[in-house]
Amino acid sequence: MKTINRRKFLILSYSSVIATLMAQCSIANTQENQRKFSSYPQINQSQYGILEVDLTANFNQINLGNKQAYVLSYNGQIPGPRLEAKPGDTIRINFTNNLPQPTNIHYHGLHIPITGNADNVFLNIPPGDRFTYQFQIPENHPAGIFWYHPHLHGLVAEQLFGGLAGLFIVRGELDEIPEVKAASEQFLVLQDFALDEKGNMLRSEELSIMTGREGNLITANGQFNPNFTIPAQGLLRLRILNASSSRFYRLSLEEHPFYLIATDGGALAEPVEMSELLLTPGERADVLIQANREPGKYPLLNLPYERVGMGMMGRGMMGRGMMGRGMMGRNIPESQPQVLATLSYDTQVAAVPLPKKLIPVPALPEPQKVRRFQMNHGMIPGQGMAFLFNGQSYQPERIDTQVQLNTVEDWELINTGMMDHPFHVHTNAFQVLSRDGKPEPYHAWKDVVLVRPGETVLIRMPLRDFAGKTVYHCHILDHEDLGMMGNLEIIAGNREQGTGNS
Ligand code: C2O
Ligand code: CU
Ligand code: CU
Repeated sequence: MKTINRRKFLILSYSSVIATLMAQCSIANTQENQRKFSSYPQINQSQYGILEVDLTANFNQINLGNKQAYVLSYNGQIPGPRLEAKPGDTIRINFTNNLPQPTNIHYHGLHIPITGNADNVFLNIPPGDRFTYQFQIPENHPAGIFWYHPHLHGLVAEQLFGGLAGLFIVRGELDEIPEVKAASEQFLVLQDFALDEKGNMLRSEELSIMTGREGNLITANGQFNPNFTIPAQGLLRLRILNASSSRFYRLSLEEHPFYLIATDGGALAEPVEMSELLLTPGERADVLIQANREPGKYPLLNLPYERVGMGMMGRGMMGRGMMGRGMMGRNIPESQPQVLATLSYDTQVAAVPLPKKLIPVPALPEPQKVRRFQMNHGMIPGQGMAFLFNGQSYQPERIDTQVQLNTVEDWELINTGMMDHPFHVHTNAFQVLSRDGKPEPYHAWKDVVLVRPGETVLIRMPLRDFAGKTVYHCHILDHEDLGMMGNLEIIAGNREQGTGNS
């Protein structure tokens, strides 16, 4: 059986540390945790321009839906505390790593510095250590749904799948649009878990790493099928994050269309009606829902979606013979829709209309540079299966892509493999121009875009404000950990300024 040795080593050492920790976990400690942590997720809003939060990553027992589970969490909560700030605010996060592994924090989608103690994914915070993250949200930062999660290469999938993720909301112009403001706001953080009957996490070997691990316990805000109530004729603003490490959600609400008002990077120019919403890992959607049917209960469904080509399923080079059971694991997509949450309304209010206009999304200027990224998988001698950009698997020391600050680039993303890959880049949001040459129907700010097998997606990205080193990667985090990541260096050269769009 061929496996990836370093990874196996990490998995083994992790399981043994966890076993030791669990043996030490006293009853008193568990009760203490339950008292402290089983309440509704904590919300931390900035005040007088400052958001200061103590955040601790833990491995402990918590109440997940109706089950006791031993999972990873920030401050003992699934999902982690919701952080809220405004443009111009200073953020200070006093982080403690109580995990048996090193970790760090990435602020997914925020346009903030990538060096020092800001959104620096190259930091390594050892077990037991503390670290203070500090940065400022730029004055012109768009309002939107952002989030935070671990980002230490090699451990990202495992830690995120363990439960470590939280919302980071930036409030601003979009929230002030009267119809949006009048809507009742709810958040929906989607996470999946793989637990045994005792509530212990399944080990990596029992999960399908190659296709990206999935669990069959799907939680919405850490609950099973939570209920959202809104007044009849009212408007619901549902702000959704896919915080799963690999699972896609194909959402549909019985008898109600979604009106998309914002994507990853902020508002659209006007609402876009859709009957279904596909959210790949890391993607966010801000939708309005009109409560204009018969008062009652309506299920929010997750429809089946196949993200792995049939050629990859249990046959050929990835069959069980070569990779072993652990590498494939459970991998058959659900064939039935699943209920994620329920929306209900009864009492009636005066009808709240949909907004007509939101916030303009400007077309970007022509690019100074066009690059091409081919996404695929293959065997690396002596290492095993790896996931690749342009034929190469991730090397921490190598700079893969060097760009100039204050320029605009077009990136052509080509998937020549057999699985879906949601492409993600840090720090700067982009606009999707076309898929297979077909122009996108509307402009939107994105930081994750799905590239299907055989597909070519063209994106345009302004590189603004922040120089330094960061990454782009597949947001199926097992693929990222198995090499589908590149280092991006943003250089503040002496090129003329102002070529970027503002
Ligand atoms: Cu949400 Cu580099 O990722
Ligand atoms: Cu990110
Ligand atoms: Cu991928």
